[in-house]
Amino acid sequence: MDAASLSELIASQFYTLNFDSKNPHKKINHAKGFCSSGEFAPRKNITQDFDIPMLKEKNIPALVRFSLSGGDLNASDKSKIRSMALKLTGTESWDIVMTNAEINFINKPQDLSRFLAIKIDEKQGKISATEAANRIKNIESIARFQSYEKRVPLTSSYSQASFHSAHAFYFRNKKGEFVAARLKFVPLNSKDSKGISQGEFDKLSNDFLESNFKNELKKGEISFKFMLVLASINDDINDINALWSGLHKEIEVGILRIKKYEGKGCNGDVFMPNILPEGVGEPSDPVFLVRNLVYALTFARRQ
Ligand code: HEM
Repeated sequence: MDAASLSELIASQFYTLNFDSKNPHKKINHAKGFCSSGEFAPRKNITQDFDIPMLKEKNIPALVRFSLSGGDLNASDKSKIRSMALKLTGTESWDIVMTNAEINFINKPQDLSRFLAIKIDEKQGKISATEAANRIKNIESIARFQSYEKRVPLTSSYSQASFHSAHAFYFRNKKGEFVAARLKFVPLNSKDSKGISQGEFDKLSNDFLESNFKNELKKGEISFKFMLVLASINDDINDINALWSGLHKEIEVGILRIKKYEGKGCNGDVFMPNILPEGVGEPSDPVFLVRNLVYALTFARRQ
């Protein structure tokens, strides 16, 4: 199946699974979320490392949306996997869309389609929840993710988690060569970024992420350090489901400062991972193209 047909199929599977006629305009994935704003300050000398003209700017306005995956507007906040999407709008635009997992749960769009097909069968009562879980475990990339996921720290707020791109993007260095790196946002207001205990996590309510974040912002800005994790020779840059192990060279790009809670205002926006500034190239893995095609389809469909 070509990328366009596969994207149509995946978008329609998301709609079969998560459409709610009472909320026809909600996002079909990552529905529960809220918005905030601030600015991104590139590190002073970053353009000595990378030829990315946008990073010459001092303060780039940033829109930041935090969300949980899935289509449920009332999903429980006691979810280990959480997300952050950014829109940096300066002389150019840069959308960065991440989760708090270093890797994604699939590495081929076909695996996502298989996963969605199983969830649809479960929803339609064709198979039990146990059968669905067993079938899902048989998808190799998902099994790998499930074993990795145990290591993701449990946190009490979006301000405490690190967020990761999973895809490796290409960054133009001063020699004009493009080098591969994954993106990482590291929390600077760390109280518990290494995680809280399962007991503490269990005591949290089903709805605390938005109010906690809002209250934290009343006390001061919430910041993240934007780092590039450069690929080493042994890393598979085309597998978003593969962990990069061992020490990696990391370069600081700058600091994201979130200053204002913006309510649900941006929940209808779309964050397109292929909106990139000059000097940053698209990943070459097999998921990226389909991912962007699906976002364009679901965004159009929910208008
Ligand atoms: C083929 C691969 C993928 C598909 C089909 C897919 C599907 C979707 C869809 C349908 C949406 C809602 C788009 C909208 O209408 O606004 C979405 C949002 C999102 N996805 Fe994916 N996704 C994929 C890969 C990924 C990966 C690799 C990541 C993380 C690295 C990711 C993180 C997110 C996040 C954070 C959002 C919410 C963005 C926002 O706040 O609006 N997705 N995804």
